[in-house]
Amino acid sequence: MPITITVRKNGSLGISADDAAQIVLVDSEGTVIPPRAEGRPMSLCRCGASQVKPFCDGSHKAMGFIDPADPMDAPDITPAG
Ligand code: FES
Repeated sequence: MPITITVRKNGSLGISADDAAQIVLVDSEGTVIPPRAEGRPMSLCRCGASQVKPFCDGSHKAMGFIDPADPMDAPDITPAG
C-alpha cells in the first residue's frame, strides 16, 4: 500500500504506510521530527488546538472541531508572492 493520508471527518490527518519507516516528517528547517509513538499510525493536527503539534492529541474533540467544508469543494488558494 502506498503512503496514505486520510482526512478524518472533524479530526486529524492520519498517515499510514506498510512500513512506517517510509514516513518521514520534517519541520520547516528540514529537521526530522520523530514519531510520538513507535509502531502507531501517525496523526497530524489540523484543528490548531493540539498541545503537541504537529501531532494530534485529541483536543479537536473537546473544542468541537468541525470540518469547514467538504475538502472536495475547497477553493484552490495559491499564495501570493
Ligand atoms: S486535529 Fe486532533 S488535536 Fe487538532
